Amino acid sequence: MKEVTEKLITWYQQNKRDLPWRHTKNPYNIWISEIMLQQTRVEAVKEYYKRFISRLPTLEDLATIEEDELLKLWEGLGYYSRVRNMQKTAKLLIEKGKNNLPNTKAELLSLPGIGSYTAGAILSIAFDIPEVAIDGNVYRVLGRIYKIEEDISKNSTYKIYEEKLRKLLPKQNTSDFTQSFMDLGSSICTPKSPKCEECPLNKNCQAKKTNTQENYPVKEKKVKQQTEERIVFLLIYKNKVAIQKREDTGLLASMYEFPNTKESFSLIDIENELIEKKIPLLSSMEIGEAKHVFSHKIWYMKGYLIEVKKPLEKYIWVTKEELQNKYSIPTAFAHFLDFFMNR
Ligand code: ADE
Ligand code: SF4
Repeated sequence: MKEVTEKLITWYQQNKRDLPWRHTKNPYNIWISEIMLQQTRVEAVKEYYKRFISRLPTLEDLATIEEDELLKLWEGLGYYSRVRNMQKTAKLLIEKGKNNLPNTKAELLSLPGIGSYTAGAILSIAFDIPEVAIDGNVYRVLGRIYKIEEDISKNSTYKIYEEKLRKLLPKQNTSDFTQSFMDLGSSICTPKSPKCEECPLNKNCQAKKTNTQENYPVKEKKVKQQTEERIVFLLIYKNKVAIQKREDTGLLASMYEFPNTKESFSLIDIENELIEKKIPLLSSMEIGEAKHVFSHKIWYMKGYLIEVKKPLEKYIWVTKEELQNKYSIPTAFAHFLDFFMNR
């Protein structure tokens, strides 16, 4: 047995919480507890579990109870689809002449409301069959002891964790092994300020070694990409184009850019504005659209080329040569830069 596995099992046997569903190995009971625990805290589940089991001690009881009474028993736990699926599963099994849950992964996965986690939990906890059950606690503990850098919000990361966990999976005592993660994760290896001094794995833990516990498991924050419509101006005076320096903080800080605004103007609005400011124009035209994807933002840009009779003082007026040799314009403006360089 791997050292980590042995330490986890020994620690669990000495420290496990006394929970009502731990007084039995009946797959039916384990299944009920696991479904209840999916979206509800352990403390809150305790009483619901006891009440549920005393009213519905067998699979057949669950299959035959009136739905109204069943929903009443579940009241307060929420997510009622969980209990409806449980009754569907109970009815399916009873119809097939079974009086408890099956003991293979394939059969379990075919039942309503049972996914990999629940199947693995039932197999390992109730049947002591070596199968993995990966929940948030497993991600946290394994992510930390091995410093796993893959983002757990990506689907492809599951199998990296699964492989690590399978390497640790014992042939016996799988029930204790699976539940050791739940207890270690809730009492010691907690999301914030883990109590590493009390942890049986503190000599094996890479994150502890580097004092980076809270960086694991790696989970990228999903930032919703904001989109912005911008108007970009190529203001032309003789052989020069207007540029300006961006603010020294924020997106593209301190870089040079073509004048641009957030609002959506039409060409007519722009001409009118220039006329109001008494800036005579020679010509104006639309020069196409471009899109640029930043890490957290997308710009949809529309360009106008406007030739003016006199330079506006607030801009820096530069030639093609200067753009090539002196000023650097961010890629976001590439479409418009090309337009100017090639005209
Ligand atoms: N969370 C999910 N399943 C659990 C279990 N069997 N014991 C404690 N916490 C859990
Ligand atoms: Fe978690 Fe700390 Fe234990 Fe590592 S040493 S598994 S971070 S509690």
